[in-house]
This record gives sequence, structure tokens and C-alpha cells, in this order.
Amino acid sequence: MKSYFFILIIAGGLIFSGIALFSQAMPFGGEKDVTFANQFWTAMKGYQEWPMKSEFYPGQSPHGKVLKLYYNLVNVDGEPYHVIVKDNFGGENATVETVAKSPKDYLAAVTIMVQMDEGYDPDNNNWFYAKYLKDGSLDKNAQGTALAGRVAKGMNAGCIACHKKAGDNDYLFSND
Ligand code: HEC
Repeated sequence: MKSYFFILIIAGGLIFSGIALFSQAMPFGGEKDVTFANQFWTAMKGYQEWPMKSEFYPGQSPHGKVLKLYYNLVNVDGEPYHVIVKDNFGGENATVETVAKSPKDYLAAVTIMVQMDEGYDPDNNNWFYAKYLKDGSLDKNAQGTALAGRVAKGMNAGCIACHKKAGDNDYLFSND
């Protein structure tokens, strides 16, 4: 009887560390990340009309020639989340003036940072990142992994690697 008990403990431990390893190997683009990002896209519909937003302003790589920020609290499954949404505009004639006249023609991507609970990613201030194309589908990296979640934790390029440079400002480059 006693040895069964130990086998159970060992088997349980192996399964548990397997899960832990797997979830570490997949800091982003997993099923949970994609589901949350899709729910979030639906929940933030109409963000262009949120009261807290910036003007259109000139941007830089990788985000785009012209940018605009929006901030709000958004409910997903009854939980409120702080989110910063950034419209990334591009295209040959994109300037603050042309984009302001017809934003839809220049919208290239929408990037968001969502403040998650403690424990989501304590090494990096618990931000969830996502990059959508203008139709709301998730953009993917060269390996075909969806850009949603802790993108790209542990790698030397990507949302986290770059935003870490603003580490002393909670990973945010913009202040207001
Ligand atoms: C090479 C650097 C770099 C990478 C990679 C990068 N960003 Fe940014 N990001 C910036 C800079 C610089 C700003 C602020 C200046 C600006 O508005 O262009 C910014 C601003 C933002 C903002 C507005 C909040 C803030 O920090 O000011 C969001 C949201 C955002 N990025 C999301 C993302 C997401 C999502 C990804 C990955 C898909 C990503 N970023 C990848 C450099 C980067």
C-alpha cells in the first residue's frame, strides 16, 4: 500500500513539472492567450470613442509613422482590466494630417498592453501584450505563433525585450 502511495506522488510530481515546463516554453501564443486576446478585442470594441485618448502623433519603428493611444478599464468575464491600446498607422503618405483625415485607410495594426494580476509575469510587471491586424485577427511571428501573451518573454527581441527599456516606468514609454 505504502509503495503505491509513493508511485502516485512521483507520477503526480512528473505530470506537474511537465505542465510547468510546457507553460514556460509557451510564454505566448498558447490557446489561453489567443482566447483572452480574442475576448479582449470584442470587449474593447468602440475604443476609438473612449474619453481618454491622445491626439495623432508622429511615431517610429516598430510601431508606425503615426500613432494614437487610448486608455480605459475593460471588462472581460466580469473582471476589469486596465488597458492601453495603440493604433499603429503606416503607408507611404501617412502623416499626422493625412491619417487624422481618414484613419481607417492608414491603420496597419493595433497593439495593446493589459495589466494582469500579480503572478501573471512578475519578472515583467505582469503585462499581457497583443498585436492585432486591422481586421482584429492576431498577428503572428515568423514561426506562426500568435502575438498574444508574454510576447516574447526570454527572447532578445519583441514586445517585452524592448519595453523592458522603460522598466523604471512600469514598461511604459508614454507617461500620461
Ligand atoms: C523595438 C522596440 C519596441 C518593440 C519591439 C515594441 N514596442 Fe511598443 N513601444 C515602443 C516605444 C518606443 C513606445 C512609445 C513611443 C511610441 O509611442 O512610439 C511604445 C509604445 C507602446 C504602447 C503604448 C504604451 C507605451 O508604452 O507608451 C503599447 C500598448 C505598445 N507599445 C505595445 C507593444 C506590443 C503589443 C508590442 C509587441 C507586439 C510592442 N509594443 C513592441 C517600443 C517597442
